[in-house]
Amino acid sequence: MSAVCLAFANQKGGVGKTTCVINIAAELGKRGKRVLLVDMDPQGNATSGLGIAKKSVKISSYQVLIGEADAKSAIVVTEFKNLSLIPSTISLVGAEFDLHTSEERGRDVIKALAPIKEDYDFILIDCPPTLGMLTINALAAADGVIIPMPCDFFSLEGLSQLNLTIKKVRSLYNPSLDITGLLLTMYNKRLLLTAQVEGELRKYYADKLFNTTISRSVKLAEAPGFGRPIAYFDPYGKGALEYREVVKELLLRV
Ligand SMILES: Nc1ncnc2c1ncn2[C@@H]1O[C@H](COP(=O)(O)OP(=O)(O)O)[C@@H](O)[C@H]1O
Ligand SMILES: [Mg+2]
Repeated sequence: MSAVCLAFANQKGGVGKTTCVINIAAELGKRGKRVLLVDMDPQGNATSGLGIAKKSVKISSYQVLIGEADAKSAIVVTEFKNLSLIPSTISLVGAEFDLHTSEERGRDVIKALAPIKEDYDFILIDCPPTLGMLTINALAAADGVIIPMPCDFFSLEGLSQLNLTIKKVRSLYNPSLDITGLLLTMYNKRLLLTAQVEGELRKYYADKLFNTTISRSVKLAEAPGFGRPIAYFDPYGKGALEYREVVKELLLRV
């Protein structure tokens, strides 16, 4: 069986992409799924958030993408159950340009991951906060996209732009690309704005919204500083519970 490949994308920064990808990856691993997280953000937050020092990275997603190294050689096994990582370093910034000038532009990630797709149940890609070639490449390689977003007005605006990109990727590279789900992050149900934005989303994306929402939580913000997913950092807290619930929903959708 070939891995289900999911891209975590949203061109806005600070919306919870990396937090979602780390914690969903760790929870899937805990449930016995073989998981590979591919860090495609030059900032490398998913790498450090899993306790891998960026300075220690020998082969990064950058070398894999430009074809200088094969995916297998870049894989780092983490200390967490069933969870491996292709790490990122700042050198990936160059890839926006290198991918752009390569002949087939959007297909570099598809090619890079093809040899290892049978080795995993899930390949989760953490995208950078742009709609550049890195994100387009990730979307081209993905079966589905998960869109983490807080309940605010700019996020609603951003969603239509992201949708245009998804449509473009569908027509150019990947006709079966689907939105697997919209995940509301940093959720605070006491805010009126939260209710308003959620109401809009329920109108237009009813079948895409995860029922589970991820509350704002200090523990979730602290965990990456300790290099641990929430399921290991604070396994009985609210954050871990909510991510467990999201993963249950996700497993029904893929
Ligand atoms: N549910 C949450 N509650 C509190 N802080 C959060 C939550 N999710 C993410 N954060 C924090 O918000 C910041 C941005 O999240 P991050 O996952 O890095 O977003 P992105 O990858 O979209 O830039 C980080 O400091 C992160 O620790
Ligand atoms: Mg990030």
